Order: sequence, then C-alpha cells, then structure tokens
Amino acid sequence: MNIVIYGSQYGTAKRYAEELSNRLGFELKSYEEVDDVNLYETIIYVGALYAGGVLGMKKTFKGMKDSNRHTIVIATVGLADPTDKTNTDTIKNGMKNQLPAEVFDKASIFHLRGGIDYSKLGFNHDRTSC
Ligand SMILES: Cc1cc2nc3c(=O)[nH]c(=O)nc-3n(C[C@H](O)[C@H](O)[C@H](O)COP(=O)(O)O)c2cc1C
Repeated sequence: MNIVIYGSQYGTAKRYAEELSNRLGFELKSYEEVDDVNLYETIIYVGALYAGGVLGMKKTFKGMKDSNRHTIVIATVGLADPTDKTNTDTIKNGMKNQLPAEVFDKASIFHLRGGIDYSKLGFNHDRTSC
C-alpha cells in the first residue's frame, strides 16, 4: 500500500497532496487520520511549514519501526523561496530535529512554494508547534 499524507492548515499543502495522489493512484490522508504509518510501503509526506516546523511530520514518523522497509519522500510547502539554498538548508536543519535520524537520512526531500490568503488566517493561529 502506498500513501500521500498531508499536514495542512489552510489547504495549500493539501492541494499538492491531492494532485500527487490523483496522478500516482496513491491513497490520500491527513496526518491526523493515519493510525499506523508502518502499513505503507511508499510514503509521500506533504507538509506545510509553520515557524520552521513541518505540520504533522514529527507525529507521523515517530511511530515508524524500520525506515529501511519504506520509500520515504517528504515535500515541505512554505512561503520561503525554495530555489534559495540558504532557505532550503534552514528548512532541512529544522527537519533534522523533528525526525528520527534514520528517517531523515532515508528520506528524499523536496521544497514546494506555498501560498497565503491573509483574509483566511485565524485570529489565533494556534497550530504552529507542529
Ligand atoms: C504563523 C505562520 C508561520 C509560518 N511559518 C513559515 C515558515 O517558517 N517558513 C515558510 O516557508 N513559510 C511559513 N509560513 C507560510 C506557510 O507555510 C504557507 O502559507 C503554506 O502554504 C501554508 O500551508 P497550508 O495552506 O497547507 O496550511 C507560515 C505561515 C503562518 C501563518
């Protein structure tokens, strides 16, 4: 079984995840709906960046038992320019602290451009702790 998992507050990362899931024919779930990540062979995680953290990523991968049994792809979605190496190095450094070392080493990591609609931001944006 293969899956695209997304962590998205306002829908940008979800839209990328939906497109990937449609094109690849993979199952699609929010990280909140995934009970056991070990069930999936290939895992594509698409997560929005909030204050340097990738929403839901830590929770999703902390339960992984043997990363060698999986193909892992992680795409971050944020406003920082993904073509700027300083930005992507900063994002990767943050990810290193949020993932088990073997998952970080195994994962293929990509960075996608997100979007923001300021009129839709919650007054108390309270999910920045990822
Ligand atoms: C409170 C807050 C913190 C954010 N922090 C970052 C960040 O650290 N790096 C970044 O590139 N983008 C950051 N962004 C921008 C979001 O990652 C971007 O809007 C993304 O597309 C949101 O994804 P979503 O619509 O799936 O929730 C932040 C946005 C908000 C509202």
